[in-house]
Amino acid sequence: MPKPVRTAVFPVAGRGTRFLPATKAVPKEMLPVVDKPLIQYAVEEAIAAGAERLVFVTHSSKGAIQAHFEEHAELEEALADSGKQDILAAVQGVLPRQVSCDFVLQGDPLGLGHAVLCARDLVGDEPFFVHLPDDLILAKTGCLAQLRARYEQTGSSVIATEEVPREKTSSYGIAAVDADNAIEQIVEKPRPEDAPSNLGVVGRYLLTPAIFAELENTGRGSGGEIQLTDGIAALMAREKVYAMPFAGVRYDCGSKLGYLLANIDFALERDDLAGGLREHLGRL
Ligand code: G1P
Repeated sequence: MPKPVRTAVFPVAGRGTRFLPATKAVPKEMLPVVDKPLIQYAVEEAIAAGAERLVFVTHSSKGAIQAHFEEHAELEEALADSGKQDILAAVQGVLPRQVSCDFVLQGDPLGLGHAVLCARDLVGDEPFFVHLPDDLILAKTGCLAQLRARYEQTGSSVIATEEVPREKTSSYGIAAVDADNAIEQIVEKPRPEDAPSNLGVVGRYLLTPAIFAELENTGRGSGGEIQLTDGIAALMAREKVYAMPFAGVRYDCGSKLGYLLANIDFALERDDLAGGLREHLGRL
């Protein structure tokens, strides 16, 4: 049985430029889909996959994320006093008691690989999840739980992937795989003419701790940043890394259209909202 995966890393230091001015004072990970912030979906997915330690790689300007996961005694008291039990349960349910949170600052925005490296001391010598909250996934079984099931079969790192349109390869890490889905090549944001396939990396990873040594030696790559994809390419020289086409629908909530579609589809999943929303969409 491979080592259990106990820790999830959330790189959340990015500026959220694409959603300005909405993200001038509010971190993009705090934007709600229906009535829950993106980061809350991320954390719930990680906990459902067995994570009990959450590591947020963050920026000093994004204190709202930490505040969201801290206890708010005064609010809870007020809700209890006014008999609002449902809302109180929702507030208390933000973080189950057995789950711990750590926050580490990513001083310089040097890229996703650098962000993951910032979590090294907190992760230790164990396999861990990386979750990019911008990629929201609607699925029966959470995507990280799907990755964990695959990892338990192989003991190897595994990355969620999906096919992307050829003309969009320059927005993704792109992987070429063999018949077993072992990754043979992985490239960050290649131009369509250079892409080894159209299999795009989605923001869910389960990585062995050997990735840290590779990231330490990873220089700047695409966009002048230290890329996680390049660290994974180096890891592949030592260990197998698998791709996993996950079951579910992914919404790129880093884009306005993806964010809007996520709000609609997640609302359609809700008994209290689906009827009214369907009526409105029908009228359109
Ligand atoms: C990051 C990764 C990329 C991956 C993508 C998924 O890019 O570097 O390999 O395909 O997330 O969302 P970003 O979107 O942060 O530029």
